[in-house]
Amino acid sequence: MAPHPTPRRRLSFSRLRYLAVACIFAIITYHYVYQNPALRLGSEPREAAGNSTLGFQKIVVLSEGPSWRTRGLKAAAKYSSIDLDIPIQPPLTNEMTDAFQKMGPTSVPHPRGRGEVKNWLSFLDIIKYIGAQDLESALILEDDVDWDVRIKNSMKLLSDAARKFTVTSKEDRSPYGHSWDLLWIGHCAEPTRNFTRRLLYDDPSAPDPEKYIAPHWFPWSREYVDGLAPGKRSVQRGQHTDCSFAIALSRRGAIKVLKFAGIGEDTQFDTRLKNGCKGNDLSCLVVTPELMHHYVPPKEFGHISTVADANEIGSRVEEEEFEHIMGNTPNILQSARCKALFDSTCPG
Ligand SMILES: *[C@@H]1O[C@H](CO)[C@@H](O)[C@H](O)[C@H]1NC(C)=O
Ligand SMILES: *[C@@H]1O[C@H](CO)[C@@H](O)[C@H](O)[C@H]1NC(C)=O
Repeated sequence: MAPHPTPRRRLSFSRLRYLAVACIFAIITYHYVYQNPALRLGSEPREAAGNSTLGFQKIVVLSEGPSWRTRGLKAAAKYSSIDLDIPIQPPLTNEMTDAFQKMGPTSVPHPRGRGEVKNWLSFLDIIKYIGAQDLESALILEDDVDWDVRIKNSMKLLSDAARKFTVTSKEDRSPYGHSWDLLWIGHCAEPTRNFTRRLLYDDPSAPDPEKYIAPHWFPWSREYVDGLAPGKRSVQRGQHTDCSFAIALSRRGAIKVLKFAGIGEDTQFDTRLKNGCKGNDLSCLVVTPELMHHYVPPKEFGHISTVADANEIGSRVEEEEFEHIMGNTPNILQSARCKALFDSTCPG
């Protein structure tokens, strides 16, 4: 008997069609609601601060190429489940660095050496790389940087503190709010005084301020730690921040820094930023003590900064030799590099 479609069968076929349409509608709704962070129910802004890019759209690394710096950094990032983007640095000519060094009137400060200029121009290049991708925010790391193994928890605590300090509204779901051009996460000095407008908050990874290691050219930074204690940090506006170990830029901040620092007129890039923050040309939020600091290879080899190296005052040593000997990271209690490379916390 030939199978003829009965009215009943036709009915179930059109029912099936309705069902398919309903399914597609449900899938689209699900995607719209759950893939849209603004609508995701129950997801606090702080949770994003603990993601693999620490709540920024990307983490980009300023690096001249593979070395002990990047190898240690990659190991630490893998240990902490952090995603890094290490773009290739475009070349700089001596003509360009010399021209940049002389830029601006003679009355303003100028970079001292070729090393400072190269570092400055490399920062501008990586910020252009961020700008070209139109990123919502990006964290720029120098490639010798290090952090505590509890970094994701620290970033979540910073998220709460930064949002509270900047009075971020509930509707703004971004992990650190939008009231900043520059979020200074890794530095080597930032005074905090009783009269500083700030928010003190708890973070178990914060070091003892009595043991704060200040660079020898900023001995005062150890003295201006009013109100800090082991397990306490401050979030505040940038007063006198130095060292650009780790700085995050908002989309707006990247453009402002390109314009403000693109004209030279200071001794080095981080000093230009510091002065931009102090003079309110840039809106800067700073966490102190810092959450990131550079790792220092064992003392007997001396620290070789890329800036010193380019100025030809650095001491070159066999990398393979010291790569297997533990260094340390000032002001970071449980170093992620040391954990990943030596299964140690690195005595500071
Ligand atoms: C981490 O969170 C930020 C802010 O919500 C977001 O832009 C970024 O894409 C997230 N990273 C990942 C890997 O999902
Ligand atoms: C800052 O305030 C604390 C608590 O009120 C006080 O103990 C400390 O002495 C003050 N420090 C300075 C330098 O005034």
